[in-house]
Amino acid sequence: MAVTAEQVLDALRVVNDPDLHRDIVALGFVQQLAIEGPRVKFDIVLTTPACPVKGELHDQARSAVLGIPGVEDVAINMTFNVASSRKPQTEKLIPQVRNVVAVASGKGGVGKSTVSTNLAVALAATGAKVGLFDADIYGPNIPLMMGVTDRPEMQGTEENKIVPIERFGIKLMSIGFFVGDDDNPVIWRGPMVHGAINQFLRDVEWGELDYLVVDLPPGTGDAPLSLSQLVPIAGVVIVTTPQDVALQDVVKGVAMFEKLDVPIVGVIENMSYFVCPQCGETTEIFGHGGGERISAKYDIPLLGRIPLDINIRLGGDEGNPIVRSAPDGALAKAFVVTAEQTAARISTLALQRDEEKRKDNAVPIQLFSKSPTKA
Ligand SMILES: Nc1ncnc2c1ncn2[C@@H]1O[C@H](COP(=O)(O)OP(=O)(O)OP(=O)(O)O)[C@@H](O)[C@H]1O
Ligand SMILES: [Mg+2]
Repeated sequence: MAVTAEQVLDALRVVNDPDLHRDIVALGFVQQLAIEGPRVKFDIVLTTPACPVKGELHDQARSAVLGIPGVEDVAINMTFNVASSRKPQTEKLIPQVRNVVAVASGKGGVGKSTVSTNLAVALAATGAKVGLFDADIYGPNIPLMMGVTDRPEMQGTEENKIVPIERFGIKLMSIGFFVGDDDNPVIWRGPMVHGAINQFLRDVEWGELDYLVVDLPPGTGDAPLSLSQLVPIAGVVIVTTPQDVALQDVVKGVAMFEKLDVPIVGVIENMSYFVCPQCGETTEIFGHGGGERISAKYDIPLLGRIPLDINIRLGGDEGNPIVRSAPDGALAKAFVVTAEQTAARISTLALQRDEEKRKDNAVPIQLFSKSPTKA
C-alpha cells in the first residue's frame, strides 16, 4: 500500500515543540512534503535557527515517520523562518527587522556589552541575520569588544543611509562611532538621546534582520524609554550578577519594562561562578542562586548562567568575543545555550502575541441568528 500524506502528518503529530507546547504539524512547521514510493521527504521550518531542541525534533520526526509501514527512507531538511514580533511594514523606521532584542541591566558593569556581543555572535553562527546596535550613549564600547577600528561609511546607498560595519557576519553600529573622544564627554539630555536613537534606527541601512540586538546603557534612563517608544521591542533581556545589590536593581528594571509594555525575555546571570583553572573547584564569588530567585519570584525565565572567567574579559578587551575565539569551549557553550534559550523564548512570545491578536480579531460567537425581538 502506498504511503499517504495523511499518514505522514498523523505520525508527525506526536512530535511536540516543548517551548511552544504544540505539535509540529499544528505549528505549521512541516512543509514541502513529498512522497516517492517508500521515500518520504519534507522540511521542518523552525521559528529560529537557534532552536535548542532542533536535533531532538529532527530525530523524533524521523523515527515517527520510519514507523509507518512501507516507509523505508526519510529525508528531513531542517530550515527556519524567524518568527517576527510584529507584522511587516507596521512601522517606518526598521520595517525589515523581525525582532528587536534589547539588552538591559539595572546596574552598570554587570556585563551587558559582553553578553550582547557574544549573544549576537552565537545567533549569527546559527545562520540568523543579526545586527548589533550599541545604544550605550555613556560608554559605547561595542566597537572595542568586536575589534572594530573603522568608522562606517556615511553614504553609499540610494537613500544616503549609513552603511553599518560588518564584523563576524554581524551588522554593527555604535553611537561611539560618532561621539567625541573620551576626554570630551557628551552631556546627553533626554531629547538628544531620543533623537540619536531615532537616527540610528532610521538612517542606518540595517536591511533585513532576524534579530537586532541593542546594547543599552545601564539603568532605567532615557535610552530604554526612547527605544521602546520608537520601535516595538520583541523583548528585553536583563543581565545581572548574582549579588543582592544587583538583584534589587533588576526588580526596578523589570518594573520599568513592564510599564513600557515591553515583554521580558528573561534574566541572564553573569559572573555566576568561577571555576578554578588549577583544581577545577567551582566558587560562587557573588553568591548563589540570585538569578533563580528573581526568576521564581517574578515569573521570568532564567535564560542562562555565565561563569566569571578571565578569557571572557580578554575576549572583550581584545575584540574577539569568546564565542568566536574558542567556540568549542565551556565558556562559549554557556553563551550558546543562553542564546538558544533567548531565541526560543522570543519565538514563544511572538506566537503568544499572534494568538492574542487572533483572539482580539475573532468574530464574536453568535448565539442567536436574529436579535431577540420584543413582544
Ligand atoms: N563573565 C565574565 N567574566 C569575566 N569578565 C567579565 C565577564 N562579564 C563581563 N566581564 C568584564 O567585566 C567588565 C564589564 O563588563 P561589560 O562592559 O560587558 O559590562 P556592562 O554591563 O556593559 O557595563 P556598562 O554598564 O558600563 O555598560 C568588562 O571588562 C568585561 O570584560
Ligand atoms: Mg556596556
